[in-house]
Amino acid sequence: MKAIDPCTLVIFGANGNLSRRKLIPALFRLEMAGRLPEQMVILASSLEAFGREQWIDEVAAMLSERFGKKLDAAAFERFRTRLHYHSNPADDVEAYRRLRGLIEGEFPPNALFYMAVRPSEFPSIIDGLGNEGLLKQANGWRRVVIEKPFGYDLLSAQTLQRGLYRHLNEPQIYRIDHYLGKGTVQNVMVFRFANILLEPLWNHHYIDHVQITHAETLGIEGRAAYFEGSGALRDMIQSHLLQLMALVAMEPPVSMDAQHLRDEKVKVLRAIRPITQNAVNAHAFRGQYAGGLIDGKTVSGYHEEHGVAPDSTTETYAALKLFIDNWRWSGVPFYLRTGKRMAENISSICIRFKRPPQNLLRHIRNAPAHSNWIMLGIQPDDCLKMEMQVKVPGLDFQTRTISLDATYRKQDEVDVEAYEGLLLDAMLGEQSLFLRIDEVENAWRVVDPVLKVWAMEREFVTPYPAGSWGPRGTYRLFDHDDQFWRHSLDVSGAELQAY
Ligand code: BG6
Repeated sequence: MKAIDPCTLVIFGANGNLSRRKLIPALFRLEMAGRLPEQMVILASSLEAFGREQWIDEVAAMLSERFGKKLDAAAFERFRTRLHYHSNPADDVEAYRRLRGLIEGEFPPNALFYMAVRPSEFPSIIDGLGNEGLLKQANGWRRVVIEKPFGYDLLSAQTLQRGLYRHLNEPQIYRIDHYLGKGTVQNVMVFRFANILLEPLWNHHYIDHVQITHAETLGIEGRAAYFEGSGALRDMIQSHLLQLMALVAMEPPVSMDAQHLRDEKVKVLRAIRPITQNAVNAHAFRGQYAGGLIDGKTVSGYHEEHGVAPDSTTETYAALKLFIDNWRWSGVPFYLRTGKRMAENISSICIRFKRPPQNLLRHIRNAPAHSNWIMLGIQPDDCLKMEMQVKVPGLDFQTRTISLDATYRKQDEVDVEAYEGLLLDAMLGEQSLFLRIDEVENAWRVVDPVLKVWAMEREFVTPYPAGSWGPRGTYRLFDHDDQFWRHSLDVSGAELQAY
């Protein structure tokens, strides 16, 4: 295990949603696991004028809400000694000077600045740090973690990038996509590159299509201000789902180091066939949740959410059909979909294989041959399944579908949260699981044409009832009648074609 240098982690927006829900709990879990370096300081920065003790009480409250009785008291005693607070109100011209005093005087000079703030605040914070000389690597390393969304479209991403390059070099920038910190997402690479079995099949000769899904039962959870300006396509597909697609489709990299891995992902993103304006309706579908039932409880529609405009056309469901124009994937559709207020929480990659060339068993089953499927469940359960046909035991020659379950987690193996590994990587200076600027740019190139058409054609947003699997019309994206969205990773669910 590589040792992490003593460092100061500065969290901007420490009192915000992301920090409270994900970052602080992830850091505490790392503390419990003994993975934080001894002399590491966690310096929270936010607008409020908290004193140190007050901040520690806030953190204690967040953690007890999260861990309840499982809160490890000894770990918390260690954790509290790391916690410090720096108040950074917008009108305080001295705030960055005081921050410099802390980092250059009291705390370890290696510093990781985490931008857990609204994207509109990234540039002013980077300027504040840069102008105070806090991004110069004279006495230690200086790195910045930038949360998504990185820009609003290609042009704004490039503008943001130019602002960053005024003070930072590419190796100092860690653009986070927390999906890359999820166990099964990393397992896509192990599954593909540590096993030879699948490689000969992993191409257009054998694969019929690929589906990548992220469905949530939650709505926008008070995030209207962000979501109204974003929508599902920007929120999930431009970032997380295109990253998954790149991992499924990329060529084996020369090595697993950051440059080689990211080179291969970029090649895939570049090879995605551009969607022309008049093809948008054949390749993209959007919807918006109406009221409905989730877990037996009535929930309101998107228009009734606090902060949403009554005539909003922001999509809460988006699906895309993409093609990768390269040798391996020629003609294979990749279907990406995401939705809020859907029937279930599930993120998965489902790969359907082509049918055998001859249906030799048609005399016993008067139907087309079944396809094989490989399924990688990302959440709620991380699993790996393969569906095959076998003979039913007995005198009759019947077949049935079985699922080979290669779920890899053993009972006593703990689950780690995506942010834990990514925070450690950023402190270690390991960039493989962070996005390079050309990945971000190419992902915007894929979705930009759709966003443009959707911004103009405001009337075509199909409602779907909360608690359903999205608008029915989304099936028109499929090329063949026998293709269907795979909602469940269970064999029985495979037979249920939809609703
Ligand atoms: C975030 C999106 O990036 O990912 C959210 O902004 C979404 O809208 C979330 O809910 C999903 O991530 P996870 O890890 O909770 O599945």
